[in-house]
Amino acid sequence: MAEFALPANSKVGKGETHKAEAGAKRIKTFKVYRWNPDTGKNPVMDTYEIDLDKCGPMVLDAIIKIKNEIDGSLTFRRSCREGICGSCAMNIDGTNTLACLKPIADVKGDVTITPLPHMPVVKDLVPDLSQPYAQLRSIEPWIQSDTPAPPDAERLQSKEERAELDGLWECILCFCCSTSCPSYWWNGDRYLGPAVLLQAYRWIADSRDEATGQRLDALEDPFKLYRCHTIMNCTQTCPKGLNPAKAIGKIKQLILERQG
Ligand code: SF4
Ligand code: SF4
Ligand code: FES
Repeated sequence: MAEFALPANSKVGKGETHKAEAGAKRIKTFKVYRWNPDTGKNPVMDTYEIDLDKCGPMVLDAIIKIKNEIDGSLTFRRSCREGICGSCAMNIDGTNTLACLKPIADVKGDVTITPLPHMPVVKDLVPDLSQPYAQLRSIEPWIQSDTPAPPDAERLQSKEERAELDGLWECILCFCCSTSCPSYWWNGDRYLGPAVLLQAYRWIADSRDEATGQRLDALEDPFKLYRCHTIMNCTQTCPKGLNPAKAIGKIKQLILERQG
């Protein structure tokens, strides 16, 4: 079984500095969190000076450049480079966001990069997302219906029914929101967090789904749902411009309404 916890009393130390190559004119400094569980050492912030004239415009471009040209051991997730897969979520300049959508030019001064906060770290910039994925499975994120699908057609929706899913289907499960939520930091083992609750509402709001009652039953719980105190960090941080706090509010409203 892999051990993901940081060393006891670990402090983030000063790491190595990699200077820019001679002749570089537009230098930007990146400070990157490094931790390798295999060494038994505390985490450090390594410093990399990057020549912006030889780097793409996004923070992910700089991270890929570091891995390809300076330090192949730097570990991070990425796939699409288009803000679609959600895998490059990390904390940049103090905000959870997608490295592939974050322009380097938007950061004044040095660029500080750390993993998504308050999650166990697998290595460097890779958080262990086992908990939120288990929570996602728990809300059964698929259509549930006793009515058989038409034999020769899809299950249709009106334009209005389909519009109810706007602002929900766009979620890419990057977990920037959940890892910015103080309630999730402190109660993440029992509170589902904004990403998973937005997904839960996505199925409740789907006109083709017939399990609304059971879904609300499962959410009517002091911890799973009601740890949300409408602090709104989730909505402020979502790199896709979604509003998980609003979706959570709608679930609470539906539960209230059915209580009469
Ligand atoms: S609104 Fe709710 S889910 Fe969003 S950050 Fe605040 S407590 Fe967390
Ligand atoms: S709601 Fe936004 S921040 Fe949260 S997981 Fe979905 S896309 Fe990411
Ligand atoms: S690499 Fe896919 S969202 Fe950034």
